Parts: sequence; C-alpha cells; structure tokens
Amino acid sequence: MLDGRRVLLVVSGGIAAYKSVTLLRRLRQAGARVDVVMTDSAEKMVGATTFEALSGRPVLTDLWSEPLAHIELGREADLAIIAPATANILAKMAHGIADDMASSTLLAADCPLLACPAMNVRMWSHSATQANVQALADRGVRIMGPEEGELAEGEVGPGRMSEPEDILAAAVRLMRSGSALAGRKIVVTAGPTLAPVDPVRFVGNRSSGRMGLAVASSAWLRGADVVLIAGPTTIVPPRGPQLIRVETSREMLEALQQELADAAVLVMAAAVADFVVADPLEQKIKRGDRDHLEIRLESGPDLLAETRDLRAGVGVFTLGFALETEDPIGNGRRKLESKGIDMVAVNEAGRADRGAEAETNQVVLIDAEGVVENMPLLSKAEVAERLLDHVEGRIS
Ligand code: CTP
Repeated sequence: MLDGRRVLLVVSGGIAAYKSVTLLRRLRQAGARVDVVMTDSAEKMVGATTFEALSGRPVLTDLWSEPLAHIELGREADLAIIAPATANILAKMAHGIADDMASSTLLAADCPLLACPAMNVRMWSHSATQANVQALADRGVRIMGPEEGELAEGEVGPGRMSEPEDILAAAVRLMRSGSALAGRKIVVTAGPTLAPVDPVRFVGNRSSGRMGLAVASSAWLRGADVVLIAGPTTIVPPRGPQLIRVETSREMLEALQQELADAAVLVMAAAVADFVVADPLEQKIKRGDRDHLEIRLESGPDLLAETRDLRAGVGVFTLGFALETEDPIGNGRRKLESKGIDMVAVNEAGRADRGAEAETNQVVLIDAEGVVENMPLLSKAEVAERLLDHVEGRIS
C-alpha cells in the first residue's frame, strides 16, 4: 500500500512511545521507508536502537550530529506522523519553537502532518493544549485521537494514543492521493438483514459482512467519504467510514434513500433477506405443547429495484453482487438489467471458500458488455481492491 512512500515518524516522550514501535513495523510492512526522529524524553521511554533495527535506518535525535538532516527529512517525506504527540511537542509546533531535532524537523517540514496526541487527561483538557491543537488543526495539521480509556497513571478519560493499525490506515488514506474516489461519497451496504419473527427470533440470510466491510475499508483508504450501512455483522467494522447500523431490510432501504441523494457510488454487498415475516408478533411465541409452528413469509423490498429511479436521477454508479447456485453469468446479467446496475460481481453460492460467510471469495465481474474480469480465489480484501479499481476506472 505504501511502496515507494517516505514517512517521517517523530516520536516524542509519552508512555505510548512503545506503541510507535508497532506503528513503525506496520508502516514498514506496508512498504514505506521510515525515518525516525526522537526527542530526548522519547529515548527515556524506548531506546533508539529498537527503532533503528526496525526502520533499518539511523534514528536522529541530535540536531547537531547531522546539521542539515532536519531540513532534508521534512522535504523528502510524503507524510510526517507525530506519535505519540505530547503536550510539549504540540505546543512547540503550535508556536514555531525549534529547539531540538524533532521540533526543528517539524518546523521545516512541508509535507502533510498527522499528529497523534497522547498525554494525561488533564494535560489534554487544559485550555493551553486545546488552543494549541486548535491552532494546529486550523493550519491543516491532522489530529488523530486521543482515545478515551484507562491512562498510564490509572486515570480514565481522553489521553490514549490511537491504535497503530488506525494510524496506519489514516496515513495510507492521506498518502494515497490521485484516486478517482477521493473526496467522493460512496455508500456501501454489508452483512445480512434480519426479519423478526417475534422479539427474540428472526429469519435471516447467512452473511459475515466481510465483503462489504472490505469494500468500505478499501474505499476509505482511497480517500472516499464512505457511508457503511451494515446489518448485524460478526466482524468489527473498519474505523474510518461513517457507520449506520440497521437490522431489517426496510431500515436498510430507508438508510439508502437518505444517503444516496448525494452519492457518487453504491456498492450493494449486503445479503438482503428477500422474504420477511408476514405478521411478526410483539410477544414471544411460547413453545407450549405445540409440535410445529408455521411462519408465513412474504416478499420484502428489493432495495436495488426500489432505489433504481433515485440512483438513475442522481447518477450513482452502482456495483451489485449476485449469489448464484447455477448459471452464474446468465443470472448475473439478468440481475444487471432487472435491477438497473452498472456492474455485478457474481459469486457462487454453497461453497466453503467463497461467498457469504467465507474469508476468501471468487467473483466474476460483469457489465452490460460481458465479463470484465474473472478473478481467481482471493482474500476479500484483495477482491475489494480489484472491484474498486474497476469502479474508479468507470467514474474517472
Ligand atoms: N438485493 C437487494 N434487495 C433484495 C435482495 C438483494 O437490493 N431484497 C441486492 C443484493 O445486495 C445484491 C443483488 O441485489 O447486490 C443481488 O442479490 P441476490 O441475493 O443475488 O439476488 P436476489 O435479488 O435476491 O435474486 P434471487 O434470490 O432470485 O437470486
């Protein structure tokens, strides 16, 4: 994701400095070259040798050891991440103080800056820190966190540094410029919808939600404004996208009608229950002495069909999915036409390694002209990437 990208990681002296070791590893795994600059206090938390070994590059701590390094680093980097960002380094950044390697490098940097504050809750809420953070944000510095939770000294409140995985995602999003999806709204549906039978029972579809969540995550990393409309999923949704939780197909339809009005793209990965319970009960059905129970189902809304005019009016590029047990291409093409969608990713149902509940997927992407790509068996994250590459190609 970050091949060829250069990141400057500025570590200042907070307890959370140990988490920056993981952040460095994640950045390296993603392909970035990382230069680490540490403050004197940071070195009291984690040794420079650890960062040196993991970055494969010398760690800079002293302004005078390489007199021009502080000028060059910020010019060559695609992004500078300040993690953890203590109250002190934020204050220096806000006021243009350059009295050590870290603060001088940041003052000279003309790349985007991502600051991840971590400190005691009272230091964070102090009006001085708040004013500094506001000044930095007004100047375009991205501020991520701090998160609420238990702090090192046992106090509870905002002060924890964001998790390395979340910082990595934010960094990727900031550096992956040039995507046709950047700054555009994409609505993604994921997971099953449930049709209640009574307050404790439901009829639903098998679906982990993985495919839709992977699309939402990939779109977010491309800089899109992502709205994720998700039914009950077992997988934790990605942190970036705006999440709208729904349960029934009716609720999903209402959310879609709200969100599509200003959307550029819809990816309809939800496994919507086609049949809903005709007369759900408000009280729990007691087992009693009955030996069978009949539940009458009726057709629920077809969300793609019902949003067809809305999507056509707004010009929403739509990618649907089709789960088929037979004639995948033929059925996929029929859905393309009948539901008014631009592309359809066809899955084969009933196989353990693909489709609704699997971790991998094998899809054939079809448009009105025919097969666009017949993908091999891939992780759902990879399928999502490829699908969005095609979407980008169509909307750019
Ligand atoms: N879909 C929808 N509303 C439904 C059912 C499905 O919008 N009530 C969407 C799905 O999210 C998917 C596409 O339509 O993008 C195709 O879903 P699929 O379950 O394969 O098709 P169905 O419309 O349910 O048709 P069938 O059951 O006859 O295969």
